[in-house]
Amino acid sequence: MSKIIGIIAGSLRKESFSKKIGKALLAMAPEGFEFKTIRLDDLPIYNQDFDDNNEVPEAYTTFRNEVKKLDGFIFITPEYNRSVPAVLKNALDVGSRPYGKSVWDGKPGAIFSNSPGAVGGFGANHHLRQSLVFLNIPVMQQPEVYLAKINELFDESGTIKEGETKDFIKKAVDAYVIWFNQNQK
Ligand code: FNR
Repeated sequence: MSKIIGIIAGSLRKESFSKKIGKALLAMAPEGFEFKTIRLDDLPIYNQDFDDNNEVPEAYTTFRNEVKKLDGFIFITPEYNRSVPAVLKNALDVGSRPYGKSVWDGKPGAIFSNSPGAVGGFGANHHLRQSLVFLNIPVMQQPEVYLAKINELFDESGTIKEGETKDFIKKAVDAYVIWFNQNQK
């Protein structure tokens, strides 16, 4: 049976570069793996009262059940104010609770940060890494993936252009698969 890897992009924007990277990754899954897009669009902001009072929004339950079935994750994060966009942090928070029932625990992950700027989302990448350490997601160390000038990577149809960056992304996916096989639960 194929291992299922969640492709989780931290943006709700229709024309999001992170989502476009996610779409490109779907075609890069090697044999034995299925890459699956996980949508964050419907998740209300986490409120612990929902869990404590057993008034859990349906969207939380759907999301938690979906993530529970995954074997690993590739997080594609933009950078908002040198950190992780709230929508992605919120998804981590929702999946981490109720206490002791985290759906993230022990499953191998990788972080691909990106930005139209020159720094490639370095700040978001490392803030995200910090949260994933706490969530006990073994995160791929190398290669580090900081995708700068991401606005230049796609053609008008939203397809990733051939070239060095595409080749690098493919190499990062290959490295993640090795990482996954070494660290899977
Ligand atoms: C940004 N952007 C941005 N870029 C960056 O390199 N470092 C940063 O700290 C920020 N901060 C920031 C804050 C907010 C609120 C917004 C809306 C944007 C620009 C950001 O990289 C750009 O909008 C990306 O296109 C967002 O990612 P998606 O939606 O294309 O995936």
